[in-house]
Amino acid sequence: MSTLEEIKSKIDIVDLVSEAGVKLRHAGKNYTGFCPFHDNKKTPAFVVWPESGTWRCFGQCNEGGDIFKFVMKREGVDFKEAMRKLAARAGVEVKEYTRETPEQKEAFENLRKILEDALVYYRTHLFNNREILSYLKEKRGLNDATIETFGLGYAPAGYDHFLKHFIGKGYAERDLIDSGMLSEREDGKVFDRFRNRIMIPIRDEHGRMAGFGARIVDPNDVPKFLNSPETAIFSKGRLLYGLDRARKPIRAADQAVIVEGYLDVIALHQAGYENVVSPMGTALTEDQLRLLKKITRRIVLALDPDAAGQKAVLRGLDAARSAMDREGEFGFDARALLRNEARLQADLRVASLPDELDPDEIVARDQAEWGTIIENAKPIVTHVMESLALGRDLNDAKTKDQIAAQVLPLIEDLPSPMERDTYRQALARMLRVDERVLTGSPVQGPVARRKPRISGRAPQIESPVVSVATNPTSKIEKYCLGILFRKPEMLYRVDRRLEEFGLSALAVEDFGYTDHQLLFDAMRQALEQDAKDYQLFLTSRLSETLQSLSKELLERNEKMEALEDRLLDEVTNRLIDLRRAAAQANVSQLRFLQEDEQSNGGLNLKAYQKQALQFTKLLQSLDQAKRKLSLKRQA
Ligand code: CTP
Ligand code: MN
Repeated sequence: MSTLEEIKSKIDIVDLVSEAGVKLRHAGKNYTGFCPFHDNKKTPAFVVWPESGTWRCFGQCNEGGDIFKFVMKREGVDFKEAMRKLAARAGVEVKEYTRETPEQKEAFENLRKILEDALVYYRTHLFNNREILSYLKEKRGLNDATIETFGLGYAPAGYDHFLKHFIGKGYAERDLIDSGMLSEREDGKVFDRFRNRIMIPIRDEHGRMAGFGARIVDPNDVPKFLNSPETAIFSKGRLLYGLDRARKPIRAADQAVIVEGYLDVIALHQAGYENVVSPMGTALTEDQLRLLKKITRRIVLALDPDAAGQKAVLRGLDAARSAMDREGEFGFDARALLRNEARLQADLRVASLPDELDPDEIVARDQAEWGTIIENAKPIVTHVMESLALGRDLNDAKTKDQIAAQVLPLIEDLPSPMERDTYRQALARMLRVDERVLTGSPVQGPVARRKPRISGRAPQIESPVVSVATNPTSKIEKYCLGILFRKPEMLYRVDRRLEEFGLSALAVEDFGYTDHQLLFDAMRQALEQDAKDYQLFLTSRLSETLQSLSKELLERNEKMEALEDRLLDEVTNRLIDLRRAAAQANVSQLRFLQEDEQSNGGLNLKAYQKQALQFTKLLQSLDQAKRKLSLKRQA
């Protein structure tokens, strides 16, 4: 997912517009309010489509766009600035096109070198310490090869062993602090961060050292695990422990398994289950899921039954959760998991671990059992249903009611109507109630009550952020732009074709998303100026983010060299579809607005009717064009 798509997917346009002071009201699937860009406070002609993440003013402005356009207009800033603001809001890091400067790269390399040296240092101390070594081998069942491959070590007790050793080797104190290996007290005193702990090196997915996790040896020490602090190269939320070793096995198995502990990852790998990774004591983040999604879509969460069961579900339905959601974390919260599953188009399953055992204890008692547990992983909703029912009396009406109240909101969140139906049936079967009871009657209980959402503050319960990235319109726009980008002269041919059909030439407004509009605009300019090197011209005109979009588009369309004519038809057809969809949406929205107007005295009725007529005519021309196009194709 590109940076822009990520921003779009994380920002709910309804929230954004509401927070800008526009009072929005539910109207069908959409929201209406007074347009913030022109001052008519009589007619609510401003419409927001949450599904596509777009808005439009049917009043004086007669203009619309996406979240970027909204911020650009609202705050009078350019695209880049709007993107910066929205990225900050979404918590998305905007990566500059030139990622690491040579100096940065050198600084990173230097930090990694310190960590590699530290690993050797800790390993030496481990092999000099019989007690720790036998703990790892006898108590934890790790063999020599495992200890070696995972680079386990031991940090000696005492405050300055590491410090003295590394200063003695010529390292600068500042660098040792920056690497996270030394701590600095407020009074300036510097000492070893890790003392009397088992050291677990953490590498990024490419196998480069990033930091350490460190487990206590003395049961009285706290905390049980101490990790490297956030450094230039260590970020807990962006790394997954074990991914460097698990990458290939995950790809081979087309499945990734997520557990909760370092030692569980290590034990499972030793037992031959190498597609396993873990987060590092924090809730799972979207970034971490994305890392995995590059390798496989099939992800299994192996969680202890409590965390994945009741507690998490209840927590998940709590309003407090929406705040957590903002940060892109979703822990083991069923609702957020589901939303992310849809957003990431992943297949997320939950495996529950038996008898309160950790994965390392399970493989210790029966190696094969792990395989069975993972095979039996269930889709999230099924898992939640079953764990809620566990040990409860399903003949009790109150219990049924409670369970339904907790599960139904999850089901309603599912993007696919087929899935929703299937799970509703499953729930009805499990509770032994008539399915109509589940669909028809309002659900009891505070967790499932759905407040109408009018302010930006309301929790994101009833309308999950729809992934704009996977929105069909966005996809088609990208597809068309991609082809035009690669074959700029085709733009003229498309225009000619549209004219043949009595339609207007392709224009910025044909694209709903600001980044697409900007790219199209630059393309037009490049063509009109008859730029010698079209691609070069374009690149010089585009901001960094748009450059990466254009790069993506180029890569995407590499295979499309042939079949020029068919491509032209195809693109024209798609573009007509885009116009059609937009016109259709506008027509049906205008119908709503007209109804409203009638009860309001009908000031704007004429204007709306006129617009509706225009769009209807446009629809007719578009349909006609499509018919001609398909005749042409058959010929
Ligand atoms: N964790 C952490 N900080 C803590 C506790 C836990 O970062 N204070 C993280 C570690 O990544 C740890 C995981 O959460 O591996 C699971 O914690 P826990 O279940 O307590 O430890 P185990 O991994 O099971 O370790 P052990 O089996 O050695 O007790
Ligand atoms: Mn454990």
